[in-house]
Amino acid sequence: MSSRDPMPRVEGPTPGLDGVASEGTLSVDGPSVDTTLPLAAPSPDAARSVGTRSMDEVRTDDAAISADAAYVQPVPSAGVTPVVSARGVHKAYMGGDGQPITVLDGVDLDVAPGEAVSVIGQSGSGKSTLLHVLGALDLPTAGEVRVSGKPLAGMDEEALARLRCGTTGFVFQFHHLLREFTALENVMMPQLIRGDAPRAATDRARELLAAVGLESRLHHKPSQLSGGEQQRVAVARALANRPLILLADEPSGNLDPQTGTRLHDLLFRVCRDEGAAMVLVTHDLALAARADRVLRLQEGHLVSAAESLRGLPA
Ligand SMILES: Nc1ncnc2c1ncn2[C@@H]1O[C@H](COP(=O)(O)OP(=O)(O)O)[C@@H](O)[C@H]1O
Ligand SMILES: [Mg+2]
Repeated sequence: MSSRDPMPRVEGPTPGLDGVASEGTLSVDGPSVDTTLPLAAPSPDAARSVGTRSMDEVRTDDAAISADAAYVQPVPSAGVTPVVSARGVHKAYMGGDGQPITVLDGVDLDVAPGEAVSVIGQSGSGKSTLLHVLGALDLPTAGEVRVSGKPLAGMDEEALARLRCGTTGFVFQFHHLLREFTALENVMMPQLIRGDAPRAATDRARELLAAVGLESRLHHKPSQLSGGEQQRVAVARALANRPLILLADEPSGNLDPQTGTRLHDLLFRVCRDEGAAMVLVTHDLALAARADRVLRLQEGHLVSAAESLRGLPA
């Protein structure tokens, strides 16, 4: 941030700043700022999922996904309190004709610390809606969402705002950067809202932007960045407050395969090594397969998508 362009005072959570985190249980400090690839040591999962095929080779659209799902009630390991949990979640929207459209029709999901769940599904199947409900950006019509065992329904607006800013890192399908602010300022913003000192927020923002390969674009505004660069800033912003929950909505749609892989490595590193619970929406089956579980949203339900992954490198 230049002295000519001071950061205005921020009164509270701002739409589009839903990135981020909680108290110190996570860290992307230190080695994670290494800008060489890979950002994290490849996990067995990563090796299994990516193999030797390029992301382009395995990228597929929904039409290629077979309709083979068995209904599942996904639950993490016994005895572990899920970071985020959904029970019987319904979401309906009012259609143009005044008739409600049911998008989520009884979704159950638990995601444990350090666990990655990917969600695939046709366009319009409700994937973004599900992430919004899990991230407290939208309310379910019925059913319950809990974060670290606490029902969102019992929280007032202030607590929900704290949760969105302090616990959840959201990488939106459309990056939703603040247009008037530079890349550095966009990544600083969630930290300043949380009350971090500007110096610390600057250091961390620089570190994260370096981790996504944008150390030379710190002072560019979104209009001066390519679509892929904007999305990388959005990922850095999502990680700024060390999220306990990482919700990523088609995070690499605008990116070339190499840059996409680098970002995915960063997201999986935060999940695997730092204990964030991750829900990742993607059309890319190779990316989906890096997760512990791959689910498909179909007719308002989460079903196993294991069969869809047949043929990917084992
Ligand atoms: N605010 C809204 N009002 C009415 N309908 C909506 C709204 N948001 C989403 N929908 C509808 O809900 C369905 C699911 O949308 P979405 O969750 O964005 O799907 P996906 O992310 O899987 O493509 C779509 O049919 C969409 O038109
Ligand atoms: Mg969507």
